[in-house]
Formats: sequence, structure tokens, C-alpha cells
Amino acid sequence: MLKNSSENLSSFKKAFDPEEFRNNGHKIVDVLADYLQKAGCGQLNHVLPPISPEEMLSLWDEDFSEKPEKDLTDLVKKLTELSNHLLHPKYVGHQVTSPLPMAALCSLATSLLNNSNAVYEMGPATTIIERKLTKWMSGLIGFGDKGDGFFTSGGTLGNLTALLAARQSKSGYDIWTEGSKESVSLAVMVSEQCHYSVKRALQVMGMGENGVITIPCNENFNLDNEKLEETYVNALSEGKKVIAIAANACSTATGSYDDLQKTGEFCKQKGLWFHVDGAHGASALLSGKYKHLLNGIHQADSVVWDTHKMMLMPALSTAVIFKNSENSYEAFCQKASYLFEREAREEWYNMAQRTMECTKLMMAFNVYACLSIYGTKFFGDYIDRVYDLTKEFAEIIRQNPDFELAVEPECNIICFRYLKNQDKDLNHLQFEIRKKILSEGSFYLTQTILRDKSYLRCTLINPLTTIDDLKELLIKVREVAAK
Ligand SMILES: Cc1ncc(COP(=O)(O)O)c(C=O)c1O
Repeated sequence: MLKNSSENLSSFKKAFDPEEFRNNGHKIVDVLADYLQKAGCGQLNHVLPPISPEEMLSLWDEDFSEKPEKDLTDLVKKLTELSNHLLHPKYVGHQVTSPLPMAALCSLATSLLNNSNAVYEMGPATTIIERKLTKWMSGLIGFGDKGDGFFTSGGTLGNLTALLAARQSKSGYDIWTEGSKESVSLAVMVSEQCHYSVKRALQVMGMGENGVITIPCNENFNLDNEKLEETYVNALSEGKKVIAIAANACSTATGSYDDLQKTGEFCKQKGLWFHVDGAHGASALLSGKYKHLLNGIHQADSVVWDTHKMMLMPALSTAVIFKNSENSYEAFCQKASYLFEREAREEWYNMAQRTMECTKLMMAFNVYACLSIYGTKFFGDYIDRVYDLTKEFAEIIRQNPDFELAVEPECNIICFRYLKNQDKDLNHLQFEIRKKILSEGSFYLTQTILRDKSYLRCTLINPLTTIDDLKELLIKVREVAAK
């Protein structure tokens, strides 16, 4: 028995040995640096390896042996080979970014420290870093001294958390304690173009489809502020108690920024909570050239801001910022004596009072460190670069009559379709084009349907993507369509 336990100890000592870590670390950083070199120059065979889920299943075994067997270098090499290459300049897909390599190094440090900050004691430095960062973000939004927030695991959870606070604040009674009442039919007005996570949040909150009121958008997919009054009055006449409006800065499908000034004024006039889903577009606050897109955001009660979208951070890393710090305690009003000793508001440093997560990644450090290392201008320049690039790409599309833009891009999201092969079903054609490009692996792009028309959709999120890459994309589209 004793012998067995000392054998055990020696294998743990080896696993935690600093020299092992140093050697493995050097090897892995070498592998990743080589990968970065190849991916950044577009020297990989495919942006997305064309491997079906079934084939992928056969490439990974789960018959773990009892004895040590595999080598981390081989496993990391295999992982990189079989992954979607977000660092490739021809990755123009979903809104998950090509992360800053510096931020990846930060993640290594935070993984080793593993300070989750449910309570201050479990993550003293990360708690304060989060506080400083959210205060800084709150300042950029234009919230006053009372602005405050926290980080959470993704925009989806961020939207849910903010809307929970909105409900507690505006439902007119203590819904957290008393639960839903049949006599009160709560509802939230949302943009027709809101991300699905907003509607999901409301349904998770038990508000049902009836509790989601859609505000129509204009022809450019911005929330139509002219329709607010009518939508609101209709909801009241149906016996609903409207508590909030959720607007986009910007929308997912087309990257359209809502006119926040007008929506904010309407919310103020009616006493509604104003939520801004800035998961993608709030980072434009860092750009002198594009921050005007967010005019009026200071009127919001809550803002969701993903740094893993437009601040080049590895996923997940989302800030939820409240105009009034008091409201940030309203999403969850739970007591847990084993964690918290006093009233939530007195314990601003125990983050789990305000987040869905108990244990949480040290996600704010990456952002804090990269801001400190590169400075804020770097991030503003990044926004300028990719937003400008998208406008340049749009201009090229406009000059080619065999292509059609869905709408003038306002940020780095662009939707367009190929018009040739008129004898074919154009909607089907776009899907076929995308499928073929993905199977060849030359680009990774997405697709969307807007008002019954299908489009190819690109997010120009990688700062190394150039206009030549995008010209090549158009050539590729023509080429596969001709086939
Ligand atoms: C506007 C908007 N809100 C919310 C989300 C969800 O964010 P996450 O994927 O971080 O949960 C997205 C994702 O693309 C988005 O575009």
C-alpha cells in the first residue's frame, strides 16, 4: 500500500516538475510559432480541413491506455492540422477572431495560475484587473462614475445576465423571489435582426414567444425607430408589460448599427430598460474614425461587449457593463453562505454575486495585458483597418456587375451574392458556391439568408487579410460557379 502511494507520488512529481514544464513549453511554443508562420502566410493546404464529422470521429481514439504513451508535441501538431485556421488571412468566416499570439501566451499564464474569481480570495489579482478593465470600458461607453460591470463567458451569457437584471429592475415586483405571475405578462422589444441569444435569453427566463416583441428594421437592417411607438402601443393593447428594448451595435448578419440615440431617447421617455448588444461592434469605441457608429450608447442601462470578437482576444471574454452599478447585482439575488458573508452590494469583489458562473476563467487578464503592452491606439487602428478594408471590398463588388451587395457594409461584415448562371436558382447557387469553396479549402466564409435571398457572408476579422485576398475570393467564386 505504502509502496504504491510513493510510486504515485513520483509520477505526480514528474507531472509537476518545473524542468519538464520548461522543456515541454519550449517545444510547444516552437510548434505553435511554426504554425503561426505557416498560417499567417497562408501556407496551409486548407483554411478549414474538409473533413466530415464522421471522418473526424475516426481520427481521434478514446482508448486511453493506463500507461503513459503519447507526446504533447504530436498531439498539438495533430490538433493544429485538424482545426479551422482562424490565423489564416483567408479565414473570413464567423465572428471569432484570429487571436493575438501575445494573448495566447497570457492564457498559458492564467491556465497555470487557475485563479477563478467567484470570490476575491480565489483570485485576488484577477478580480481587481476585471474591475479596472470594466471601469475603463464603462468610461469609453460614456457611463458616469456609477458605471461598473464584470466579465462572463460569452455574449450569449452576457445578454442573458443583462436581461435578467433588466427584468428584476423593471418588472415592478421582486420577480427573483416571487417568480413569474400569471397576471403580469412581461415582454421585451427586440430588433428583428437581434442575435438569437437575445430571444433565447428571454425564453430561458420563461417569457415565452409572447414575451419577445419584434421591432421591424429598415431596408439596411437597422432597427426602425419610426416603428417604436406603434410596436409599443400594440404590445400594451395586448395586455403586455414592456420592460426593455434590446438594440444592436451591430447586428450579426449584416453588421448594421442601430441608431442608439433615438432608441435610447424612446426608452427614457417610456421608462424602459435599454440594453445594447455590442458583442461585435462595441469595440469601435476605440476608433476615432468609427466610434460615431455608437453615438447614444451612453443612454444604455446595460451593454454587452465581446473582446473575443473585435479586440483580437481568444474566446471567451465578454464584458457586461451597467450604467448603474446597483443594477449589476440584480441579475442574481442569491444568497450562499459558504461563499458570501454579507449583502451582495457590499461585496463588489466577490464576482459570483453577479455572474452566472461560479468558477470562471481569468479572462480579463488577456485584455488587460494586451492593452498595456500594445496600447489603445493599436486596437483603434485594428478597427479602422478591417472596417476600411470592408468598404474597399464593397466598392470592388459594386464595380463587378456579376455580383450584388446585400447592403452597404457599416463595419467588417459584408454580405454579397453571385448573379451569373441566371438559369439556376440563385439562392441555391450561393450555398453551392460556399460548399465548393469550403471543400477546396481556399477560404472559409459563411452564408446567410436575408429577406428570402441567400448571400455569401464574410467577416474580415483577421488584420492580415488584404484586398488581394478578397479579389482572389471573387475570382474563386466565379470559378466554382462556372463549374
Ligand atoms: C450581436 C451578437 N450578440 C451575441 C453573440 C453571441 O456571442 P457569443 O458567441 O460570444 O456567445 C453574437 C455572436 O456572433 C453576436 O454577433
